[in-house]
This record gives sequence, structure tokens and C-alpha cells, in this order.
Amino acid sequence: MPELIHYDVRDRVAVLTIDNPPVNAMGPGVLEGIEENIARANGDADVDAIVLIGAGTTFIAGADIKIFGTLKTREQSLARSEATHARLKRIEDSSKPLIAAIHGNALGGGLEVAMACHYRIIAPDARVGQPEVMLGIIPGAGGTQRLPRLCGAELAIEMCTGGKPVSARKAADAGIVDNVAGPDLLHDAVAFATAMAMSGEVRKTRDLSNKIADRDAGVAACTAARASLAKTARGVKAPFKAVDAIEGAFTLDFEQGSARERELFADCVTAHESRALVHMFFADREAAKVPDVPRDTPVTKIERAAVIGAGTMGGGIAMAYANAGIPVLLKDVDGAAVARGIATIRKNYESTVAKGKMTREAMDKTMALITPTTTYDGFDQVDIVVEAAFEDMNLKKEIFADLGRLTKVSCILASNTSTLDIDEFAKASGRPGQVIGHHFFSPANVMKLLEIVRGRDTSKEAIATSLALAKRLGKVGVVVGNCFAFVANRMLAYYMREALLLLEEGATVPQIDKAMTDFGMPVGPFGMQDIAGIDVGWRIRQFLKSIGKTRAEGPQSEVPDRLYEMGRYGQKTGAGWYKYEQGSRERIHDPLVDEIAAKEAARRGIQRRAIKDDEIIARIMTALANEGARILEEGYATRASDIDAVYCYGFGYPRHVGGPMFYADSVGLPTVLEHVQQYRAQFGDYWKPAPLLEQLANEGKTFNP
Ligand code: CAA
Repeated sequence: MPELIHYDVRDRVAVLTIDNPPVNAMGPGVLEGIEENIARANGDADVDAIVLIGAGTTFIAGADIKIFGTLKTREQSLARSEATHARLKRIEDSSKPLIAAIHGNALGGGLEVAMACHYRIIAPDARVGQPEVMLGIIPGAGGTQRLPRLCGAELAIEMCTGGKPVSARKAADAGIVDNVAGPDLLHDAVAFATAMAMSGEVRKTRDLSNKIADRDAGVAACTAARASLAKTARGVKAPFKAVDAIEGAFTLDFEQGSARERELFADCVTAHESRALVHMFFADREAAKVPDVPRDTPVTKIERAAVIGAGTMGGGIAMAYANAGIPVLLKDVDGAAVARGIATIRKNYESTVAKGKMTREAMDKTMALITPTTTYDGFDQVDIVVEAAFEDMNLKKEIFADLGRLTKVSCILASNTSTLDIDEFAKASGRPGQVIGHHFFSPANVMKLLEIVRGRDTSKEAIATSLALAKRLGKVGVVVGNCFAFVANRMLAYYMREALLLLEEGATVPQIDKAMTDFGMPVGPFGMQDIAGIDVGWRIRQFLKSIGKTRAEGPQSEVPDRLYEMGRYGQKTGAGWYKYEQGSRERIHDPLVDEIAAKEAARRGIQRRAIKDDEIIARIMTALANEGARILEEGYATRASDIDAVYCYGFGYPRHVGGPMFYADSVGLPTVLEHVQQYRAQFGDYWKPAPLLEQLANEGKTFNP
């Protein structure tokens, strides 16, 4: 087994280097190795002080997340936490000064180890954080007790409930670290250790009391945090448990507070929320792995970009590039169209500035990266073009033929199409290896999904470049095959089909939306359509009719067409699935929609009935899982977790539920199959079980291995 901790002595300082690539996570042997080497340094007559530092790009990025899946019961979790707490106490009891030298990230258990050291020095660009809530858990190695002792209640709560890391400067100002190093962290850490050895001072974080002395203020901060989380942390429990644990730092002694933390950690780690979020952590990263595109595939460096089409999507895509610091040309057919696009972009940034989320200076700098144009001038300089023009095959063929002639040979030619076959216009470019789908989700500067559509001839380099670029744009890139509607919209079609059929069968618009928001969706299917525009959906349906396709198999509800015919396009016209007061976005139930649904039901001979919320969830989730299974067996997604990532990041499906395929796994595939069979008997053959679902259910397997 490779040595996880290296031991060197430098100027009478023992330097312990943690070497567990890629991120020095605390897998088996790491913490044990740290403890053993600290004991060795304490017994080494040539050593006066100890520095703990990470090899590679980072300090410790936390516990090894894979371990959480092995903690099946509270008892297992408690036993593990007790052992970790005891080990960290023994580390803290080092009689020689112990200094953590932090570069890269000290996250989760990594920060907890650093806090069990006596002092901390940090590289200027490093970050520290307690991101456990992102995994549905709370700090489980004393973090909720040591962090408030260093920085007080407010920041400890902010870090443990929000999960966002803080900068070196902020950590130093708050007292989490003692020093910010210069360019040579190890040099400064050794000098710091030598100074501490001379002073002979050993400061144990667990004995600090200054920042937790005001018990009432600490408890009040926790009460206020709970009230604020009640509004923002919908459907999740971990942030509340983190507050409960931090409160213990103010109301209990260190031992009791630590015991409480262990109990609360055990509650979290065994819950569905954590299982789902851990699944999504790995889903995000697995998505970047395409079996036949090796990690060392060469990538094109993207230094300049161009976007064709300055409408809603094109403008949002240009913003995504500019936000990542990449200069981008934004082209449309005439000056008025580009000006409209730029004005919308400016309005979006203005509103971000007004909310205090961006400075005016940053806005000006970012806007300056977007250059409006009506010509192809400068396209010979760009490394990627994203076409976001109208969904018209002939138009796209023309554009791609132009791009094939005008851009450099290495330029990636991407299309934001959501409905057209990219292989068709790839041919027109004369360089089909460079052509790839980059399907963004609205608003493109916000939604995290980038569906990367691989055409028949798309090169491995274009795929690898797209994946690297997605990360740079702050997106999760998922590579999918070139099937009709790709993966995200193909799944969405089944989600919407069921929502509409449930409406015709007797559920109401607010009932269905509420069932889905209670489930965790940020907005229900009808609320979502009122935002996106019922006219947009209508236009897509007309287009699909013209090419002889429907969005999903099975009956096509015509209720949306009736709304369209009445000019009810959604929020923008003051009425859609809901009614809206002038200037308000509050959704008001409109009985007229129920009447329209009832008429449509009668026309199609549907007997209306009362529908329970459970049926709404089961019908919608079963439809998603069954279609997901088809996508998988047809090979349009590489793995089930890719479909989970697509659905979570494209449509805001709750990560803490884990994505539709993970949800199906947790319900149990035999149950899902039973539902499909029951619906088939009840509604008709369009509810055919996907063969893969049948196979996995019969074999007692799951979608996600
Ligand atoms: N455990 C196991 N594997 C981890 C890991 C961890 N804590 N952190 C990262 N990895 C793995 C990733 O899965 C990935 O593996 P593959 O290359 O095989 O896909 C690899 O390390 C690199 O990770 P990224 O692709 O994310 O690399 P990055 O450079 O973009 O980001 C990072 C690095 C900021 C450290 C990021 O990986 C990250 O945020 N990691 C998670 C940190 C975290 O949540 N820590 C808390 C853990 S819980 C805990 O510590 C509980 C406790 O109290 C004891």
C-alpha cells in the first residue's frame, strides 16, 4: 500500500505530508496515519514542532464520501464518529505545537482536522468550508463544536448551513486561521512552527471559550437561523440539524456537544436525503466520464467564442460565456435584433446588481466581453461558435455551411437545437467531426445543465472539449445521444403528458402543481408552463406536427391548445393555467381551466374522478422512470445517473430526492414495474413497460448499480 503520510524533518520541524490523490480525502488509513506520525514526531528528539500539509493541489477535501454508503445503521455511524472524535482529541493533545498548512481546500473533515491542530496558516488563494449539508449531513468530526469556538455563532452557522467555503482572507479575519502565508506556504508554515516551538505555546481549539461565552447570543443566533431556513431550505433537514448541533456549542460542554453532534450526524447519514445527495455528488462527476473518450483526449483551448442568435437563448448563452470571462461575439441578422438582445442582457445584469449580487464594476467588465455584431467578421478568430438561431433545418444548414467555410479548422461548431437532428446540418458544415449539440436550458446563464449531444461523426476531441468547457462555464455537462428531443426534453414530455392527463381525469391545476412542489420541484408543471409561455409550447407542437412527430407516446391532451386559442399564454398575458393580477406573479386558481379540462375529458370519453396526491406523484414518477429505462436501453444515455443529472440540472428536480432514476431505485423497481402494468391495464398500451425495467425488476437489480 502506498505511504499515505510522508514524514520529513526540516529545521527541527516535522513536516507530515498527506498524500492520498486526487484530493487527500480521508479514506482508510489517512487519519490513522496522521495520528501515528504525530505520535512519532512527539517522540522524535530532533523535532520541536509539527506541520501538517497536503501533497498535490489541496489540503484535505474531507472524509471519503464513499464511506457514507457503508454506514447502514445509526449504531455503525455512532461507532465510527466516536472513533474519529477520540482520534482528533488525541491529535489535539500533541505536546509539541501542531500547525495545519492549508492550500487548495480544507473542506469538511479536512477543516475539522485543521481545527484539531493548534494553529492554522493558509495560502492566500485557499478556501476553508464545511460543505456537508450539500451531502445531506452535518460536520461529523467535531466541526460544529470547534468552528464556533474559533469564529462565533453567525459565521459557523452560515458555513455549516449554506455549505459555501470562505476565502483565506475571510477565514483569517474571522479567526478560523491564524495567518495568511506568502507565496511559499511550506516555508512560512515551518517558520511559524519554529516560532510557536520557541514560545512553547500549545492552543487547543476545544479549550477556547471566548467566542462562545455569550450563551444567550449564540442561542438567539440559532433561533434566528432556524426561522430563516424555514423559508429557504425547503424539503431538507440537514441544515436544521447543523444548527441544532452548533447550539450545543453554546449550551453544552465540549464532550456533551460532541456527543450531540454524533447523534445528529447519525440521523442525517442514514436518511434518504443524504443517500440522494451523495448519489448526485458522484452523478455530477461520473457524467464527465465517457467510456470511449479517455481522460487524456486532447482538448481545444477556448479563448474566444461566438453565439449566433441574440434571442432569449442566445443572449443567455453569451452571458454564460462572459460570466466565465470568455470574450464572445453575439451575432444576429440586423442591428435591431442584436440591440434588443444586448438590452435584455443589460437588464438581466442590472437586476443582479440591484439585488446586490454583483458590483456595477463587475457588470461593466462582464458586459464589455460581449461584442454585438451583424456580420461574420472575427469568426475566423473564435474557438467555438454556438448556433442559437430559429429551429429551421434549412436555416441551420445555411449557417453551418457558412461556419464550415469561415471558421478555423479547430473551431468547435455547436448548436443549441432542442428538436433537430444535428447529423443533418453537421454534413452541411463539411466538418461533421467538429459539430456537436450544446443544448442549454432556460435561462441559459442560470440553469446548470449543458446537454452535450454527440452526433454520428462528432470527434472525441469535440466531446472532451465540450466537457471541459461545461465545467468552466459552471455547468454540469452530460453527454447524450442524438435521439429525438435528446434526453432532457424527451423525459419532460412524459412528465407533462401525465400532468395533462391527470388534469383531464379530474385533478386540478393547483393540486398537481402543489403535489409536485411538495415533492420538491421548485415549481409545478403548470406554473412552469406559465413562465415558459403556452405559446412557445404551442409553436413547438405545430412544428412537431409538421414533421409528423409527437412529444410523447399516448394520448395528446388538447387543453393547452384551447388556452392558446384564447390568448392565454401564461404570465406574460396575465392568464394561462392560472390567472394573474396586473403586475403580480401570484398564481390564482382559475375555475375556467377546470371547465375546459372537463369539456376535453368529455370529448375523449374520460370519466372524471377525485385523484389523490399519491397517485399524481406515482403516475408522473413512473412515467419518467419507464422512459428513462428506454433511453438507457437504447443507449442514448451512458448510465442512469446521467439521466438523474440531466433532470435535476435541466428542470430543477430536487437533488435531495436524487433524480428520477434514483427515486425509482429507492421505491423499488418491482413496485415501479407493478405500477406500469397497472396503468397499462387501466389506461391502455401506451403504458408498455420498458424491457430494461422488466429485466432489472425481475433480476432484483436497480438502475444505478
Ligand atoms: N471523497 C471522495 N472522493 C472525492 C472527495 C471526497 N471528499 N472529493 C473529491 N473526490 C473525488 C471526486 O469524486 C473526483 O473523482 P473522479 O476523478 O474519480 O471523478 C476527484 O476527487 C476530483 O474531484 P472533482 O472533480 O470534484 O475536482 P475539483 O478539482 O473540481 O474539485 C473539490 C475539488 C473542491 C475538493 C471537490 O471535489 C469537492 O468539493 N469535494 C467534496 C468536498 C466535500 O464535500 N467534503 C466534505 C466531505 S463530508 C465530511 O468531511 C464529513 C465529516 O465531517 C467527516
